Amino acid sequence: MEKEVKDYFDLTGKVAIITGGAGLLGRKHAEAIAEAGGIPVIADINPSATAQASQELSRRYQVDCLGVVTDVTQRESIEGLLSQVLDHYKRVDILINNAAHNPKVEATGTSETEWSRFENFPLEVWQRDLMVGLTGVFLCCQVIGTDMAARGRGVILNIASDLAVIAPDQRIYRKEGLAEDSQPVKPVTYSVVKSGMIGLTRYLATYWAAKNVRVNAISPGGVYNGQSDEFVQKLTNLIPMGRMAHVDEYKGAVLFLVSDASSYMTGGNLIIEGGRTVW
Ligand SMILES: NC(=O)c1ccc[n+]([C@@H]2O[C@H](COP(=O)([O-])OP(=O)(O)OC[C@H]3O[C@@H](n4cnc5c(N)ncnc54)[C@H](O)[C@@H]3O)[C@@H](O)[C@H]2O)c1
Repeated sequence: MEKEVKDYFDLTGKVAIITGGAGLLGRKHAEAIAEAGGIPVIADINPSATAQASQELSRRYQVDCLGVVTDVTQRESIEGLLSQVLDHYKRVDILINNAAHNPKVEATGTSETEWSRFENFPLEVWQRDLMVGLTGVFLCCQVIGTDMAARGRGVILNIASDLAVIAPDQRIYRKEGLAEDSQPVKPVTYSVVKSGMIGLTRYLATYWAAKNVRVNAISPGGVYNGQSDEFVQKLTNLIPMGRMAHVDEYKGAVLFLVSDASSYMTGGNLIIEGGRTVW
């Protein structure tokens, strides 16, 4: 029988590993997978949040959702994750690289802002952020993507940011009454990690195209999560749609990119940011 359009979005029986799956957006990616009939696996470094997220998903969607405490910066940890998933489900179909060390500049006090300026940015922080955000993606693709390529099928989705496409507008992070050289800024590592992810997406998309492993990225804009009115006002002035994203607003795009609905797409970067990069 010919497939209907909704069938292309169906994930029945498909197993999806979500790194950083216990965080704000990771849980939403997991919901999207489960709502389309798939099986999300929460792979996060935070043990209590991992257990809580996987239990809640299992209960809410009546799905056998495994929570595996994983550190994406450690190859052995990712190898352990993959073997646990293969033992349990006998397959892995989807990898969502979502984990990040994500300091929220808009929520930090002055002590952390001291180091966030480029001139004083400590090498250890640069190395830690790149290790989680970029090396972690490299390692997960190397371990899990290589397994997919060997089996001749798989989908990888890298969660980047609108700041992979444009530079941060540092004016929105400014705080009244602070000297120029201690004004908070979005850390340099955020731009570098997210831009690097797009490069890795293109590299692997072509590298594994013949192996039937598709690799795409999504570049989301900021999600409203209780930020101050002042910050929200400054940010939304830069967004044609005049608002931040709702936390559920990326679920449709995630489902599109991990399902057969995007079967002819690889190496792409779906920019979803209320039009911010268009201005
Ligand atoms: N929230 C936003 O507004 C927004 C906007 C654009 C892009 N993003 C991107 O979306 C992704 C998720 O963001 P979020 O807002 O849900 O962040 P979050 O901080 O809520 O979640 C990140 C998760 O990653 C986990 N993690 C950190 N280090 C890890 C490691 N070494 N191994 C495994 N897991 C680790 C954390 O425990 C946490 O659960 C990030 O890549 C972020 O950059 C977020």
